[in-house]
Amino acid sequence: MAAVASSVVHEVLGRRADDVDEPIIDYIINVLADDDFEFGVDGDGVFEAVGELLVDSGCVHDFPECRAICSKLSEKFGKHGLVKPKQAVRSLATPLRMFDGMDEEETPKKQVEVLDGPVLSERDRAKIERRKRKDERQREAQYQMHLAEMEAVKAGMPVVCVNHGGNEDGPTIRDIHMENFTVTVGGRDLIKDASVTLSFGRHYGLVGRNGTGKTSFLRHMAMHAIDGIPKNCQILHVEQEVVGDDTSALQCVLNSDVERAQLLEEEANLLAQQRDLEYEAESGNSTEHVKGGVNKDAIGKRLEQIYKRLEFIDAYSAEARAASILAGLSFTQEMQRKPTKAFSGGWRMRIALARALFIEPDMLLLDEPTNHLDLHAVLWLEAYLVKWPKTFIVVSHAREFLNTVVTDILHLHGQKLTAYKGDYDTFERTREEQLKNQQKAFEANEKARAHMQTFIDKFRYNAKRASLVQSRIKALDRMGRVDEVVNDPDYKFEFPTPDDRPGPPIISFSDASFGYPGGPILFKNLNFGIDLDSRIAMVGPNGIGKSTILKLISGELQPTSGTVYRSAKVRMAVFSQHHVDGLDLSSNALLYMMKCYPGVPELKLRAHLGSLGVTGSLALQPMYTLSGGQKSRVAFAKITFKKPHIILLDEPSNHLDLDAVEALIQGLVLFQGGVLMVFLFPTTVYFGDLIQFYSAVLQCYFTLLFIPFSRQISCAGEPRRAPYNRERRRAVGGLRR
Ligand SMILES: Nc1ncnc2c1ncn2[C@@H]1O[C@H](COP(=O)(O)OP(=O)(O)OP(=O)(O)O)[C@@H](O)[C@H]1O
Ligand SMILES: [Mg+2]
Repeated sequence: MAAVASSVVHEVLGRRADDVDEPIIDYIINVLADDDFEFGVDGDGVFEAVGELLVDSGCVHDFPECRAICSKLSEKFGKHGLVKPKQAVRSLATPLRMFDGMDEEETPKKQVEVLDGPVLSERDRAKIERRKRKDERQREAQYQMHLAEMEAVKAGMPVVCVNHGGNEDGPTIRDIHMENFTVTVGGRDLIKDASVTLSFGRHYGLVGRNGTGKTSFLRHMAMHAIDGIPKNCQILHVEQEVVGDDTSALQCVLNSDVERAQLLEEEANLLAQQRDLEYEAESGNSTEHVKGGVNKDAIGKRLEQIYKRLEFIDAYSAEARAASILAGLSFTQEMQRKPTKAFSGGWRMRIALARALFIEPDMLLLDEPTNHLDLHAVLWLEAYLVKWPKTFIVVSHAREFLNTVVTDILHLHGQKLTAYKGDYDTFERTREEQLKNQQKAFEANEKARAHMQTFIDKFRYNAKRASLVQSRIKALDRMGRVDEVVNDPDYKFEFPTPDDRPGPPIISFSDASFGYPGGPILFKNLNFGIDLDSRIAMVGPNGIGKSTILKLISGELQPTSGTVYRSAKVRMAVFSQHHVDGLDLSSNALLYMMKCYPGVPELKLRAHLGSLGVTGSLALQPMYTLSGGQKSRVAFAKITFKKPHIILLDEPSNHLDLDAVEALIQGLVLFQGGVLMVFLFPTTVYFGDLIQFYSAVLQCYFTLLFIPFSRQISCAGEPRRAPYNRERRRAVGGLRR
C-alpha cells in the first residue's frame, strides 16, 4: 500500500517533489496511505490534512494550486482502489428500539457517562476528533522538520577528526574570546550580552539550573555560531551516540584518525600491487618486467614516505591508545571487537565519548558525561580529564566530579554567564559571599536613599533649605540602585499520596532465585520484603543485576525458584532512563499525559504536571525542545499519576540539577508509600549531593539493601519502620542546605 501511495504521490507532484525535504514527502505518503484516511469529496480530506504543509514547504505556489493537486491525488488514489467508499447514510422509516425483543433483565443498564465539559453532538465530536488528528499530524510534521533541520546543521558542521598538525588554516588555537554574544532558542534569549574568555589548557565546569541553556550554549559553540571562535578551532560536542553499523567499537574510534586510515589503506593497496608485479616478473614476461621495475621503484618510494608519515603521526601506537580509552570506559577486549550496532544507546554514547577523547580536539564539550557511566568509568574519566592538555567545558551536576576535574566554573544564571576561578566548592563559597555582600549593599543603599528621600520630602517647600534639597536630589540620582538578591524559585517534587493502603505483606521474596535461561544464577535464595514504609537504596556495580531485581519486583520477570509475592492491590511505578528516552517527543507534556490517561480532565493533569515542576508554557512546549532535566520531570509525572503505593527508581538523579535532586529527596521523604532506589554504587564518595541521600538513608529512615560483589544479596541490618510524618518533616528541614 505504501509503495503504491509513494508512486502516486511522486506521479502527481512530479518534479515539485524534488524541491521538498524527503521527510516531508515521506510524511505525506504515510498520511495518505493510512487505512483510516478519509479523502473526502474532491480531495477535501487531503487538502485539510496536508494542504498547509504543501504550501509551507514550497511544493505548490498557493492554495488554489494546492486544491487542484489535492483533488488529483484523491482521484489517483481512487483509481488505484485506495479510497474506501464512504458508508452510505439512509433514513429509517420508523424509529427502532435497540433492545426490542430482549428480556428486561438482560437489557444492559445505561452507564452514566462522566462528562468533562459541554454535551457534544456526534457531528461536533467527529469534528473535534478530526481536528485532533490533524493537529497530531502537524506536530509530527514539525518534529520531522526539526529532525531534518538538525541533520542539515550537523552536515554543515566542520568534520572533527584527529589533527596531526600542519594546519594551514590559521595560527594554532590558544585562548578564545567570545564577546557580547547572545544565545537565542525558540525566540527566547537564554544568554544575553555575555562575554567570556576561555584560556587555553583550562578546564571549565558549566553549571546552572535545569533548562537555563547549558546544552544550547554548547550547541552554539559547536556550530561556531558565536563570534570570537576562530574558524580553524576544532570543537567537538559529545552529544549524540555513534551510529550503529558493522564497524567494531575499536575501529570506530580509530576511524576518527582519517589520515591514519587513509595511509594504511594506501599502504595495503601498494603492497598488493607490489606483490602482483613480483609475481609477473617471476612468470618471465620481459617487457612487463622492465615496466614493473619502474613501477616497483615508484611504489617503493611512496611506501617509504607512507611509513615515515605513519611513524611521525604515531600511527602504530594508535590502536593501543584507542583500546586503553575504551577499556577505561569499561569495554572488555571482546566488546571492543563487537560491531557498534550490537550496543545499546548508553554504550554507543560511551563509544562517542571514547572517540572524542581519542581525537583530542582544540575544544572538547562534554554534556553530563557521567550519566551513562559506572563508577569505574567515572573514576577513569576523572583521571583522564585531569591530565587533559587542552581546553574543555563539561556540564555536570555531580559536585565531586566537578571538584576533581575543573579549574574554573562558568555559571549560567538569569541569562548571564559568569566565570569563577577554582573548583565547584570554591565557586559555591565565592557566590555565597557575593550574594551576602550584594544583599548588604542593597540594604545599605535602600537605607541611605530612604534617609535622603525623607530629608527631601520634609524640606521640599522650605525656601531656606532649597539648595540643600537640590543637592540631595542630585546625590540621590547619582547614587543609583543596587539590585536586590533574587533567590531562585523553590523547586518541588510532590508525589501524590495513595488513597488506599493495602495491608502487608505488599511484596515479599521467599527463597527466590533467578538466572536468565542458559545463564548463571544471578541471585540465590533472596529473602526480603517491601511495604509502604520501606525506604530502600539498592547499590552495586554495573551489570550485577539491579535492574533484574526491579523486574522481579514489578512482575516483569518470574523467579526460577522460590516465590515473589505481590499483593493484588498494590500499584507500582517504575522510573528509569528508559522512561525518559521513551517519551513521545513530537507531542507536548500535557497531550502526552492526556494520551496516557484518556478521559481524565485536563485541569487535573496540568495540576499534576505542575506538582512536579512542569508548569505554564513548559507543559505545552513540544517535548523535543525540553531540556534533559525537564524531560525527567515529565517522566516522573507520568509514572506517579496513578498514585502508586511503591515507587521504584533506577538512577533517578541523572539529568537533575543539584537543587532538583534536593527537591526530589524532600519529595521522596514526604511520600507516603514505599521507595526503592537503585544506584550504581554507594555514591557517597563521588556524587557529593547524594551523600545526603545516603546520610538520610543510613542515619534516619532508609534501609540499605546491599549487593556485595559475591552476587549474594543481603539486608544490612533489620528492616526498620519509617518514622512518622512529623519526624520526616523535621528530617527534611535538616536536609536543607
Ligand atoms: N525550540 C525551542 N523552543 C522553545 N524553547 C526551547 C526550544 N529549545 C529549547 N528550549 C528551552 O530552552 C531552555 C534551555 O534548554 P537547554 O537544553 O539548553 O537547557 P539545559 O541548561 O541544558 O538544561 P538541563 O540541565 O536540564 O540539561 C529550556 O527551558 C528549553 O525548554
Ligand atoms: Mg542539558
